[in-house]
Amino acid sequence: MTQTIDTQNDHHFQSNKINVNQDFAGAVLKGLSSKKKSIPSRYLYDAKGSVLFEEITELEEYYPTRTEIKLLEENTRDMVGQFPEGAVLVEFGSGSSRKTEILLRTLPHLKAYIPVDVSPTALDDAKARLTKKFPDLRIAPIVANFMEPFALPDWCADAPKIGFFPGSTIGNFKPSEAIGLLEYFAQDLGCSSRLILGVDLKKDEDRLVAAYDDREGVTAEFNLNVLTRVNRELDGTFDVSGFRHVARYNENEGRMEMHLESRKDQSVEILGRRFDFKKGESLHTENSYKYSVQEFHDIGDRAGWENLATWTDEESLFSVHLMTPACN
Ligand code: AVI
Repeated sequence: MTQTIDTQNDHHFQSNKINVNQDFAGAVLKGLSSKKKSIPSRYLYDAKGSVLFEEITELEEYYPTRTEIKLLEENTRDMVGQFPEGAVLVEFGSGSSRKTEILLRTLPHLKAYIPVDVSPTALDDAKARLTKKFPDLRIAPIVANFMEPFALPDWCADAPKIGFFPGSTIGNFKPSEAIGLLEYFAQDLGCSSRLILGVDLKKDEDRLVAAYDDREGVTAEFNLNVLTRVNRELDGTFDVSGFRHVARYNENEGRMEMHLESRKDQSVEILGRRFDFKKGESLHTENSYKYSVQEFHDIGDRAGWENLATWTDEESLFSVHLMTPACN
């Protein structure tokens, strides 16, 4: 993502392993102790998971990335054309900052670009690459978890802000969490800001399922990798071959779900605790909510954002929104 959902990508915490392990351990032990077993999707993104996710974004079946890039490329002028001089671009969960380049090429007289991510390495790499391409641009990374409010530097207090949240990362949050996140973004960016945000739209179920269960098995590997991560970081004993990747659309909830289904009755130890799986039992690893354009406008509304413009592709696969806080 740039998604690395990142978001939410706790591989970014690897510089601080003790914390990671505590967070990860707590989440895994809690998730596996529930009646319906689960692991939060942010733990899919260790170093290997992040590489696999980048591979997913290039797959034929995974339409969101290329569709969003095309929408950004074709409409950048309309998106950023009216931004005032001296604006600051703030990207939430910036990861590799690949999509940002599209905006940076068009943004006039930008005061600075502030990528926000939990991974210092991702931020360093992105800064090094972008500095070569945009030598005059001030790049001021912030190591922070965008899921919580964080302080922007004082020097940009008076500058108009443009938020950027591509990749439909918003879809990896429950609608109630998405509203909370957008409320934080309004706090971070201030009343006169704009936000450019990508959303994966509701569509034909077969198309959705194919995007999360590709022929090459990259998404399956991405999903199963979380078990390898548990084995490595939490002294786990998962037999990875004893689970299979399942992707299904949950019509009631309007979301794609990824699960790891146990191929047999089996037990696993994690940090000395035992967990039993029945044959066919599911370990839920990801939700990816899909919206209609109207449903997403309603989410924005409830979070206090006014939708200024919406761009969608011809097949209505994906939408990009330009929003502003509805202050006052
Ligand atoms: C990062 N996020 C928006 C992706 C998605 O589509 O929900 C993660 C992903 N999971 C499987 N494929 C891609």
